[in-house]
Amino acid sequence: MEFKHFSVMKSECIDALNIKPDGVYMDGTLGGAGHSIEIAKRLKKGRLIMFDLDSDAISVAKERMTRVGCKQDFIKDNFKNFKSYIDALGVKLDGVLLDLGVSSFQIDEPERGFSYMQEGKLNMAMDSDAEFTAFDVVNKYSQSELERIFFEYGEEKYGRAIASAIVKSRKINPILTTKELCDIIINAVPPKYRYSDSHPAKKAFQAIRIEVNGELVGLRECLIDMVRNGLNSGGRLAVLTFHSLEDRIVKEAFNMLASDCICDKKLPICVCKHKAEVKLITKKPLTPSEEELRQNSRSHSAKLRVIEKI
Ligand SMILES: C[S@@+](CC[C@H](N)C(=O)[O-])C[C@H]1O[C@@H](n2cnc3c(N)ncnc32)[C@H](O)[C@@H]1O
Repeated sequence: MEFKHFSVMKSECIDALNIKPDGVYMDGTLGGAGHSIEIAKRLKKGRLIMFDLDSDAISVAKERMTRVGCKQDFIKDNFKNFKSYIDALGVKLDGVLLDLGVSSFQIDEPERGFSYMQEGKLNMAMDSDAEFTAFDVVNKYSQSELERIFFEYGEEKYGRAIASAIVKSRKINPILTTKELCDIIINAVPPKYRYSDSHPAKKAFQAIRIEVNGELVGLRECLIDMVRNGLNSGGRLAVLTFHSLEDRIVKEAFNMLASDCICDKKLPICVCKHKAEVKLITKKPLTPSEEELRQNSRSHSAKLRVIEKI
């Protein structure tokens, strides 16, 4: 199995973490270990705790990480459950990196069922052992639930037409593959949309993937929890996002944590007594360099936001 993944904004992420050689760091989204290897190289007596939902990613990364020495923990779980693991290890964190979403490896493996470009069984679960997959969303969700996810998670303006076409088609036969779903979407949208720059199934596939993996559920709470209960003072949290929904959640959580007042703007005086818990290291998100964009089209939508716990 060849695990190809071009790590996005690698040097910017490493700089953002401001790594201390004896610190404790967490990579919540290990993938092919591109970022983790760079973090580990900078840790002498330090420790790196790595999470991924995907057991294939963990085995490939374990192999790659043997070349770099530092204390390493590989955890096959959702990074949103980080707290119980750091408590069990009896550590606090000096830095956390989250490179959200899926890896190129997952997208490029047809049998993982993420790609609208290649045929595979409808799956899209990052967790290689998950029982709930894209098949369940596409074949079991009601028309209105499908419409909701296409609008909410895909910002897909033809969400209603796509949901209706899916429901019509599955009455005849269940929808089993990415190709079948893709054809249904293409036939449901107007011709001008079919031939636009972006693939007509891109947003609907994104929406289904977000739903299958619960990607946005609890993300805000997790970021806040990381700051309040995970990081040491002076510790950094760096988050790479790839679409506007995700970026909005990160931006709003970071701005809230960095504010001295979080009262409703309509109130004439402050009653919340909130004090800023973090410094914004990036006032505006960092984006990939021209050179990186030339090398990797998947970096295009990347945004990196960084905070430091006060
Ligand atoms: C964009 S890739 C990370 C690539 C990695 N930074 C590298 O340089 O190779 C995201 C990885 O994180 C995993 N992942 C995404 N969300 C996760 C979550 N909530 N918990 C654990 N792993 C997650 C995915 O399975 C995927 O392997």
